[in-house]
Amino acid sequence: MKSFGTGETSVTVLKGIDLDVYFGELLLLVGESGGGKTTLLSAIAGILDVDSGDLDVLGASLTKMAPGTRTSFRGRRMGFVFQQFNLLPALTAAENVAIPLLIQGTRRQEAIARGRVMLERVGLGDRTEFLPRNLSGGQQQRVAVARALVNDPQLLVCDEPTAALDGPNGQKIMELIRDVGRVPGRCVIVVTHDNRIFHYADRIEEMEDGKIKERPSDLVMEESRRVHDYTLDPPDEPAPK
Ligand SMILES: Nc1ncnc2c1ncn2[C@@H]1O[C@H](COP(=O)(O)OP(=O)(O)O)[C@@H](O)[C@H]1O
Ligand SMILES: [Mg+2]
Repeated sequence: MKSFGTGETSVTVLKGIDLDVYFGELLLLVGESGGGKTTLLSAIAGILDVDSGDLDVLGASLTKMAPGTRTSFRGRRMGFVFQQFNLLPALTAAENVAIPLLIQGTRRQEAIARGRVMLERVGLGDRTEFLPRNLSGGQQQRVAVARALVNDPQLLVCDEPTAALDGPNGQKIMELIRDVGRVPGRCVIVVTHDNRIFHYADRIEEMEDGKIKERPSDLVMEESRRVHDYTLDPPDEPAPK
Protein backbone atom coordinates (compact mmCIF):
# COMPACT_ATOMS: atom_id res chain seq x y z
CA MET A 1 0.00 0.00 0.00
CA LYS A 2 1.08 3.56 -0.63
CA SER A 3 -0.52 6.75 0.65
CA PHE A 4 0.51 10.33 0.17
CA GLY A 5 0.01 12.93 2.88
CA THR A 6 -1.27 12.43 6.38
CA GLY A 7 -4.56 12.75 8.24
CA GLU A 8 -7.58 14.10 6.41
CA THR A 9 -5.73 15.02 3.25
CA SER A 10 -4.12 11.63 2.87
CA VAL A 11 -4.78 9.72 -0.35
CA THR A 12 -4.15 6.04 -0.74
CA VAL A 13 -2.79 5.51 -4.21
CA LEU A 14 -1.88 1.83 -4.21
CA LYS A 15 -4.15 -0.71 -2.58
CA GLY A 16 -3.43 -4.40 -2.28
CA ILE A 17 -1.71 -4.89 -5.61
CA ASP A 18 -0.60 -8.35 -6.60
CA LEU A 19 1.09 -8.31 -9.96
CA ASP A 20 3.32 -10.96 -11.50
CA VAL A 21 5.36 -10.41 -14.62
CA TYR A 22 7.00 -13.28 -16.47
CA PHE A 23 10.27 -13.40 -18.30
CA GLY A 24 9.92 -13.05 -22.05
CA GLU A 25 6.65 -11.15 -21.87
CA LEU A 26 5.52 -7.64 -22.51
CA LEU A 27 2.94 -6.68 -19.92
CA LEU A 28 0.87 -3.65 -20.66
CA LEU A 29 -0.49 -1.85 -17.64
CA VAL A 30 -3.30 0.40 -18.75
CA GLY A 31 -5.85 2.64 -17.11
CA GLU A 32 -7.11 6.17 -16.80
CA SER A 33 -4.89 8.97 -15.66
CA GLY A 34 -4.59 9.18 -11.87
CA GLY A 35 -5.10 5.45 -11.37
CA GLY A 36 -1.71 4.98 -9.74
CA LYS A 37 0.32 3.54 -12.63
CA THR A 38 3.31 5.84 -12.27
CA THR A 39 3.25 5.42 -8.50
CA LEU A 40 3.35 1.65 -8.93
CA LEU A 41 6.28 1.90 -11.36
CA SER A 42 8.14 4.16 -8.95
CA ALA A 43 7.68 1.55 -6.25
CA ILE A 44 8.89 -1.22 -8.58
CA ALA A 45 11.87 0.94 -9.46
CA GLY A 46 12.63 1.37 -5.78
CA ILE A 47 12.40 5.16 -6.13
CA LEU A 48 9.42 5.31 -3.81
CA ASP A 49 8.90 3.43 -0.55
CA VAL A 50 5.62 1.64 -0.06
CA ASP A 51 3.97 2.03 3.34
CA SER A 52 3.11 -1.61 3.79
CA GLY A 53 3.32 -4.86 1.92
CA ASP A 54 6.21 -6.64 0.30
CA LEU A 55 7.66 -5.83 -3.04
CA ASP A 56 9.61 -8.60 -4.72
CA VAL A 57 11.27 -7.63 -7.95
CA LEU A 58 13.41 -10.09 -9.92
CA GLY A 59 13.45 -12.46 -6.99
CA ALA A 60 14.69 -9.93 -4.45
CA SER A 61 12.71 -8.10 -1.79
CA LEU A 62 13.03 -4.36 -2.44
CA THR A 63 11.31 -3.61 0.84
CA LYS A 64 14.03 -5.40 2.78
CA MET A 65 16.98 -3.92 0.91
CA ALA A 66 19.12 -1.11 2.27
CA PRO A 67 18.76 2.07 0.17
CA GLY A 68 22.27 1.82 -1.27
CA THR A 69 21.80 -1.81 -2.25
CA ARG A 70 18.52 -0.90 -3.86
CA THR A 71 20.11 1.82 -5.96
CA SER A 72 22.78 -0.47 -7.34
CA PHE A 73 20.23 -3.25 -7.84
CA ARG A 74 18.15 -0.86 -9.90
CA GLY A 75 21.17 0.27 -11.90
CA ARG A 76 22.30 -3.25 -12.75
CA ARG A 77 19.02 -5.05 -13.25
CA MET A 78 16.47 -2.54 -14.51
CA GLY A 79 16.12 -0.13 -17.41
CA PHE A 80 13.70 2.79 -17.69
CA VAL A 81 12.01 4.71 -20.48
CA PHE A 82 9.84 7.73 -19.73
CA GLN A 83 7.34 9.85 -21.60
CA GLN A 84 9.78 12.75 -21.76
CA PHE A 85 12.92 11.27 -23.14
CA ASN A 86 15.13 12.71 -20.38
CA LEU A 87 18.28 12.88 -22.49
CA LEU A 88 21.11 15.13 -21.36
CA PRO A 89 21.17 17.95 -23.93
CA ALA A 90 24.93 18.54 -23.93
CA LEU A 91 25.81 14.90 -24.56
CA THR A 92 25.80 13.07 -27.89
CA ALA A 93 23.42 10.19 -28.49
CA ALA A 94 26.21 7.65 -27.85
CA GLU A 95 27.23 9.39 -24.61
CA ASN A 96 23.63 9.47 -23.42
CA VAL A 97 23.29 5.75 -24.05
CA ALA A 98 26.56 5.14 -22.20
CA ILE A 99 25.39 6.84 -18.99
CA PRO A 100 24.18 3.70 -17.14
CA LEU A 101 27.52 2.03 -17.88
CA LEU A 102 29.53 5.07 -16.76
CA ILE A 103 27.59 5.15 -13.50
CA GLN A 104 28.61 1.57 -12.90
CA GLY A 105 32.24 2.42 -13.48
CA THR A 106 32.78 1.13 -17.01
CA ARG A 107 35.69 2.91 -18.71
CA ARG A 108 34.55 5.83 -20.80
CA GLN A 109 35.82 4.58 -24.16
CA GLU A 110 34.30 1.17 -23.70
CA ALA A 111 31.00 2.62 -22.46
CA ILE A 112 30.66 4.88 -25.48
CA ALA A 113 31.62 2.08 -27.86
CA ARG A 114 28.87 -0.04 -26.35
CA GLY A 115 26.53 2.93 -26.62
CA ARG A 116 27.23 3.07 -30.36
CA VAL A 117 26.53 -0.63 -30.79
CA MET A 118 23.24 -0.24 -28.95
CA LEU A 119 22.28 2.71 -31.15
CA GLU A 120 22.85 0.55 -34.21
CA ARG A 121 20.43 -1.98 -32.78
CA VAL A 122 17.72 0.65 -32.50
CA GLY A 123 18.33 1.88 -36.04
CA LEU A 124 20.37 4.97 -35.23
CA GLY A 125 23.84 3.81 -36.27
CA ASP A 126 24.23 6.94 -38.38
CA ARG A 127 23.24 9.34 -35.57
CA THR A 128 25.60 8.32 -32.78
CA GLU A 129 27.39 11.68 -32.58
CA PHE A 130 24.25 13.83 -32.83
CA LEU A 131 23.05 15.98 -29.95
CA PRO A 132 19.46 15.31 -28.82
CA ARG A 133 18.20 18.64 -30.18
CA ASN A 134 19.22 17.59 -33.67
CA LEU A 135 17.15 14.42 -33.49
CA SER A 136 13.39 14.06 -33.99
CA GLY A 137 11.17 13.09 -31.06
CA GLY A 138 10.93 9.53 -32.32
CA GLN A 139 14.71 9.32 -32.66
CA GLN A 140 15.22 10.75 -29.17
CA GLN A 141 12.94 8.10 -27.74
CA ARG A 142 14.98 5.46 -29.61
CA VAL A 143 18.07 6.81 -27.87
CA ALA A 144 16.23 6.52 -24.56
CA VAL A 145 15.32 2.89 -25.33
CA ALA A 146 18.95 2.16 -26.21
CA ARG A 147 20.04 3.75 -22.93
CA ALA A 148 17.55 1.66 -20.98
CA LEU A 149 18.85 -1.53 -22.57
CA VAL A 150 22.59 -0.86 -22.69
CA ASN A 151 23.39 -2.82 -19.55
CA ASP A 152 21.15 -5.68 -20.56
CA PRO A 153 18.62 -5.30 -17.73
CA GLN A 154 16.30 -8.14 -16.75
CA LEU A 155 13.40 -5.76 -16.30
CA LEU A 156 12.56 -2.94 -18.69
CA VAL A 157 9.99 -0.47 -17.40
CA CYS A 158 8.41 2.12 -19.69
CA ASP A 159 6.06 4.84 -18.44
CA GLU A 160 3.88 6.23 -21.24
CA PRO A 161 6.70 5.80 -23.79
CA THR A 162 4.54 6.93 -26.72
CA ALA A 163 2.70 9.82 -25.08
CA ALA A 164 4.96 12.53 -26.52
CA LEU A 165 5.04 10.98 -30.00
CA ASP A 166 2.68 11.07 -32.97
CA GLY A 167 0.85 7.89 -33.99
CA PRO A 168 3.37 6.43 -36.46
CA ASN A 169 6.36 7.18 -34.21
CA GLY A 170 4.52 5.68 -31.25
CA GLN A 171 3.99 2.48 -33.23
CA LYS A 172 7.66 2.36 -34.18
CA ILE A 173 8.78 2.77 -30.59
CA MET A 174 6.47 -0.01 -29.47
CA GLU A 175 7.78 -2.27 -32.21
CA LEU A 176 11.25 -1.55 -30.96
CA ILE A 177 10.37 -2.17 -27.33
CA ARG A 178 8.72 -5.42 -28.35
CA ASP A 179 11.53 -6.64 -30.60
CA VAL A 180 14.60 -5.43 -28.74
CA GLY A 181 13.21 -5.29 -25.23
CA ARG A 182 11.14 -8.42 -25.03
CA VAL A 183 13.65 -11.26 -25.16
CA PRO A 184 14.05 -14.46 -23.15
CA GLY A 185 15.38 -13.68 -19.71
CA ARG A 186 13.89 -10.22 -19.68
CA CYS A 187 10.44 -8.86 -18.91
CA VAL A 188 8.94 -5.60 -20.02
CA ILE A 189 6.27 -3.51 -18.34
CA VAL A 190 4.77 -0.72 -20.40
CA VAL A 191 2.36 1.69 -18.76
CA THR A 192 0.04 3.50 -21.11
CA HIS A 193 -3.39 4.93 -21.66
CA ASP A 194 -2.79 5.02 -25.43
CA ASN A 195 -5.18 2.43 -26.86
CA ARG A 196 -3.40 2.56 -30.22
CA ILE A 197 -0.63 0.45 -28.76
CA PHE A 198 -2.67 -2.12 -26.85
CA HIS A 199 -2.07 -4.77 -29.51
CA TYR A 200 1.64 -4.96 -28.65
CA ALA A 201 0.83 -6.62 -25.36
CA ASP A 202 1.36 -10.25 -24.52
CA ARG A 203 -0.84 -9.58 -21.52
CA ILE A 204 -2.85 -6.59 -20.34
CA GLU A 205 -3.70 -5.59 -16.83
CA GLU A 206 -5.89 -2.62 -16.09
CA MET A 207 -5.39 -0.37 -13.12
CA GLU A 208 -8.14 1.71 -11.63
CA ASP A 209 -8.25 3.66 -8.43
CA GLY A 210 -5.04 2.14 -7.09
CA LYS A 211 -5.97 -1.46 -7.82
CA ILE A 212 -5.49 -4.01 -10.55
CA LYS A 213 -8.89 -4.83 -11.97
CA GLU A 214 -9.75 -8.49 -11.90
CA ARG A 215 -10.81 -8.40 -15.51
CA PRO A 216 -9.88 -5.69 -17.99
CA SER A 217 -12.82 -3.70 -19.34
CA ASP A 218 -14.37 -4.70 -22.68
CA LEU A 219 -12.93 -1.69 -24.41
CA VAL A 220 -9.43 -2.68 -23.38
CA MET A 221 -9.97 -6.24 -24.54
CA GLU A 222 -11.46 -5.15 -27.87
CA GLU A 223 -8.54 -2.88 -28.58
CA SER A 224 -5.99 -5.52 -27.74
CA ARG A 225 -7.77 -8.07 -29.91
CA ARG A 226 -7.78 -5.90 -32.99
CA VAL A 227 -4.40 -7.15 -34.10
CA HIS A 228 -3.29 -9.50 -31.40
CA ASP A 229 -4.93 -12.84 -30.85
CA TYR A 230 -5.37 -12.31 -27.17
CA THR A 231 -7.52 -14.83 -25.36
CA LEU A 232 -9.31 -14.63 -22.07
CA ASP A 233 -10.94 -17.37 -20.10
CA PRO A 234 -14.61 -17.68 -21.01
CA PRO A 235 -16.77 -15.28 -19.03
CA ASP A 236 -18.19 -16.63 -15.81
CA GLU A 237 -21.68 -18.06 -15.93
CA PRO A 238 -24.22 -15.49 -14.80
CA ALA A 239 -25.23 -16.16 -11.22
CA PRO A 240 -28.42 -18.23 -11.01
CA LYS A 241 -31.46 -16.18 -10.11
N1 LIG B 1 3.95 12.91 -4.70
C1 LIG B 1 2.61 12.86 -4.63
N2 LIG B 1 1.95 13.49 -3.64
C2 LIG B 1 0.61 13.44 -3.55
N3 LIG B 1 -0.18 12.77 -4.42
C3 LIG B 1 0.41 12.13 -5.42
C4 LIG B 1 1.84 12.13 -5.59
N4 LIG B 1 2.13 11.39 -6.70
C5 LIG B 1 0.96 10.97 -7.18
N5 LIG B 1 -0.08 11.40 -6.42
C6 LIG B 1 -1.51 11.09 -6.65
O1 LIG B 1 -1.62 9.70 -6.78
C7 LIG B 1 -2.62 9.35 -7.73
C8 LIG B 1 -2.04 8.43 -8.77
O2 LIG B 1 -1.10 9.12 -9.57
P1 LIG B 1 -0.22 8.42 -10.68
O3 LIG B 1 0.47 7.25 -10.08
O4 LIG B 1 0.62 9.47 -11.29
O5 LIG B 1 -1.32 7.89 -11.70
P2 LIG B 1 -1.18 7.53 -13.25
O6 LIG B 1 0.26 7.35 -13.58
O7 LIG B 1 -2.00 6.28 -13.40
O8 LIG B 1 -1.80 8.65 -14.00
C9 LIG B 1 -3.15 10.67 -8.28
O9 LIG B 1 -4.33 10.95 -7.61
C10 LIG B 1 -2.05 11.65 -7.94
O10 LIG B 1 -2.59 12.92 -7.79
MG1 LIG C 1 1.43 8.26 -14.99
